[in-house]
Amino acid sequence: MCGIVGYVGSQSALDVVMAGLKRLEYRGYDSAGVAVLADGGLAPAKRAGKLVNLEKELAEHPLPAGTTGIGHTRWATHGGPTDANAHPHLDNAGRVAVVHNGIIENFAALRAELAGRGHDLASETDTEVVAHLLAEEFSACADLAEAMRLVCRRLEGAFTLVAVHADEPGVVVGARRNSPLVVGVGEGESFLASDVAAFIAHTREALELGQDQVVELSRDGVTVTGFDGSPAEVRAYHVDWDASAAEKGGHASFMLKEIAEQPKAVADTLLGRIDAEGSLTLDEVRIPAHELRETDKVVIVACGTAFHAGLIAKYAIEHWTRIPCEVELASEFRYRDPILDQRSLVIAISQSGETMDTLMAVRHAREQGSKVLAICNTNGSTIPRESDAVLYTHAGPEVAVASTKAFLTQLVACYLVALYLGQVRGTKWGDEIRAVIRDLAGIGQAVERVLGTMEPVRELARSLAGQDTVLFLGRHVGYPVALEGALKLKELAYMHAEGFAAGELKHGPIALIEEGLPVVVVVPSPRGRSVLHDKLVSNIQEIRARGARTVVIAEEGDETVTPYADHLVRIPATPTLLQPLVATVPLQVFACELATARGNEVDQPRNLAKSVTVE
Ligand code: M6R
Repeated sequence: MCGIVGYVGSQSALDVVMAGLKRLEYRGYDSAGVAVLADGGLAPAKRAGKLVNLEKELAEHPLPAGTTGIGHTRWATHGGPTDANAHPHLDNAGRVAVVHNGIIENFAALRAELAGRGHDLASETDTEVVAHLLAEEFSACADLAEAMRLVCRRLEGAFTLVAVHADEPGVVVGARRNSPLVVGVGEGESFLASDVAAFIAHTREALELGQDQVVELSRDGVTVTGFDGSPAEVRAYHVDWDASAAEKGGHASFMLKEIAEQPKAVADTLLGRIDAEGSLTLDEVRIPAHELRETDKVVIVACGTAFHAGLIAKYAIEHWTRIPCEVELASEFRYRDPILDQRSLVIAISQSGETMDTLMAVRHAREQGSKVLAICNTNGSTIPRESDAVLYTHAGPEVAVASTKAFLTQLVACYLVALYLGQVRGTKWGDEIRAVIRDLAGIGQAVERVLGTMEPVRELARSLAGQDTVLFLGRHVGYPVALEGALKLKELAYMHAEGFAAGELKHGPIALIEEGLPVVVVVPSPRGRSVLHDKLVSNIQEIRARGARTVVIAEEGDETVTPYADHLVRIPATPTLLQPLVATVPLQVFACELATARGNEVDQPRNLAKSVTVE
């Protein structure tokens, strides 16, 4: 949540920072602001609303040119999305500017203390106290990095802070605790950002900052210390995607681009994980085989769409390994005092690797002695760094707030982990594993075929733009798919959408069915467990008899559903457990089109942010 950029070098800081903010706008779009060091002073500008409002402001009131600057795009926590609450925040003398991501939990006490010393605080934010504290410390030590270290030691909560001071031109200082911040290292220039996307057009060389570290950037390089001033070790890494991956590439939205990229994302996630004999080689899973053999319980923690991936993974893990598997919302996990020990394997799924709820669940699990395996899409992010092992999904950057390609690759990674556990524990034979891997290798093409047949789904979505409610039903792995279809519609189209286990209908939800209500039904393969398929066909008849307008997603060749489908969406035949990889795609297209027809911005739905770094 919130996007942060800092720059020092020889280019126009404003241009670099604004371009970076554009790439980070997915992290929050309640307001935006910049500050540039120029002519011995500090030139700030900020506006409520999207970045475009700030662009207009800058066009009308240009800032002086400077080569050191910071910027921020906000997802509001403390104080509404107003001009006054927008970042950067300045001290009373207007010499220091600071931008912040996270929550400073002891801000009220600090604010009272500052007010007592005569400071005048103008906003409702928790951030503003930092600008005032930095100004006080700087006046004593005349060193912004040292002032930052002193201030950070007084702060409680989670924060990324980036600051500049008019009396230290050519320097940008950042700090991080429980919130993302990466350094970009260029030739005679350096960058700070919440995400490498902000500086990928300038450099692909990055540094990973650790917990409780302060970084000082100047044209001469980068210095990193702990909050106590001790020198710190940092890991350097090369970003293996380029600026074009973070562009829309001719699509109307990032979401459409990311939906279209799914065949490649799925294939890339399988790359390098299968040896010449067709066995799995998950080198990154550094948990010793004997520990995996002793695992007596798997617990998956995740949020939102990643949680739905976890719900699907449970079916594969239990079926292929016979290890009991629980799936828990990360935000609930540690508060119920879960039963964990050294024999529990906790799998944390997160696209961003920065979701605070999931991170806290990871920490809790490790405190209990459990091993944690992260499934993550973002190299160098906090969750994989704090886990015992990581399996990266290779979806490439996902910019649209609604998760699409990350979900499909999370599923692939989950299947790989389940098979790997089966391989290590001997619950799956080599030929069985190879057969599933062959099926997985064919999924990219199957998704491609689904994408080629989506026009009727788009047409249907447009025709439903005036609806208030859409329901989704599924059974077995189709149930989490139904939940995911409903989540996509809620977050993008702002409609009442709910997913149900079809068997649960008769226990209450069937009362919602009325004449013309659209109900999307995900039908399991008739070639799997036919009883499951037949039960769902009965459920379709039950809702249709009560007036529902049925949208049936069924495997090619499954004619039993035809008489009961007002709209029939065909998906390629896949093994039962893998069906979510193809069945989810029409639901993504459906939600995207319906939201667009309702005039909503699909990449940046209201009230949301891509990366949820607060609890
Ligand atoms: O980055 P993460 O995978 O940890 O994010 C988890 C959820 O916040 C995320 O999946 C969210 O539900 C998406 N907006 C759904 O499309």
